[in-house]
Amino acid sequence: MTPQPPPSARDLVGKRILLVGGAGFIGHNLALELHGRGAEVGIVDSLHVNNLLSLHDESAPAERDLYSLMVNERLALLKAAGIPIFVDDARDYHRLSKHFSMFDPDTVVLLAAVSHASRANKDPMRTLDHSFRSLENALDNARGNVEHFIFLSSSMVYGDFVTDSVDELAPCNPLGIYGAVKLGGEKLVIAYGQVFDLPYTIVRPSALYGERCISRRVGQIFIENSLRGKDLVIQGDGLEKIDFTYIQDFVEGIALVIREEKSKGEIFNITYGQGEALQTVADIVQSEFPEISVRHEPRNSLVPERGTLEVSKAKSLLGYEPSFPISAGFPKYISWYRQLFERFDSSALKGIEPQSNE
Ligand SMILES: NC(=O)c1ccc[n+]([C@@H]2O[C@H](COP(=O)([O-])OP(=O)(O)OC[C@H]3O[C@@H](n4cnc5c(N)ncnc54)[C@H](O)[C@@H]3O)[C@@H](O)[C@H]2O)c1
Repeated sequence: MTPQPPPSARDLVGKRILLVGGAGFIGHNLALELHGRGAEVGIVDSLHVNNLLSLHDESAPAERDLYSLMVNERLALLKAAGIPIFVDDARDYHRLSKHFSMFDPDTVVLLAAVSHASRANKDPMRTLDHSFRSLENALDNARGNVEHFIFLSSSMVYGDFVTDSVDELAPCNPLGIYGAVKLGGEKLVIAYGQVFDLPYTIVRPSALYGERCISRRVGQIFIENSLRGKDLVIQGDGLEKIDFTYIQDFVEGIALVIREEKSKGEIFNITYGQGEALQTVADIVQSEFPEISVRHEPRNSLVPERGTLEVSKAKSLLGYEPSFPISAGFPKYISWYRQLFERFDSSALKGIEPQSNE
């Protein structure tokens, strides 16, 4: 007898979901998850920001080859699943309108952004343009036309955590451009809800990691450096805690936001729900690469001091149950990276210098 899928497996049949900025790290993994649950998924993405077309001007040449491989694997997976990508810039209102009209979504997820705090601080104008203009265009196309608008905000809206863990009611005092633009984005989404009755949900993720991420956040850099035989570089003393979240937990959380009516009008932390010290992540990586050393550099004062994001609201209202503590997620990620490097021509990696965390 053929095994039956679990009840949740096809829980989004009948949904038409447009992911704006959906060819990025989160977006393509989310598209595959939603498609697997039976939704019709479409993507609008310029491939221009932290993606295929930016690899020639934003990254060192050696990274470009490795990251091109990852991005091409994203595109191949999306193609194999039959998920269309409409290659267009969401800053262009009329181009975006065309895709809204043609795809006719009932649900929109806004992911397009400059999704990196230190890159945002280096280029505020570009950050505001890609993050805020795209958001407002998507909101304006969505009002009166879609049933649900989901905005990906960030844990960075909280700024320095004043307690070890924060829930969604904690004060928001962002530090730097990225968090400020995210908090402004949340306010704009809420305003569209007030003025146009647009049903919305705001989601605050934290420190996602997993397959085919090219954003060069700390976990990714640890693993790449280890695979190249280079030191791990920790900024600060390593005791600082971050709520690292494996991509599979996160995309399942978003699927629940889409499925559950109760998510509308709400803000959710969607993370693993447990801050972990940077040193603990370094220890996990080192346990897989015992020959690698760790060294420390001064901490970047513009990075907020964070910790745990409480996820009890998502658990009780949505039935969210994250299942990847870093002790499970990072070994899985490392195993994927080892296979990726086998596919990649290792000779292309020779002579690369380690890069510090951003
Ligand atoms: N990855 C994380 O840890 C994390 C944490 C908190 C919040 N977020 C937020 O989640 C969202 C997705 O993050 P990600 O990690 O997938 O980032 P990403 O950089 O991998 O993906 C962003 C995608 O948006 C596209 N994009 C940007 N500007 C665009 C425009 N004007 N028109 C069309 N497409 C455009 C890019 O080409 C890219 O494919 C972002 O809003 C980010 O700020 C991410």
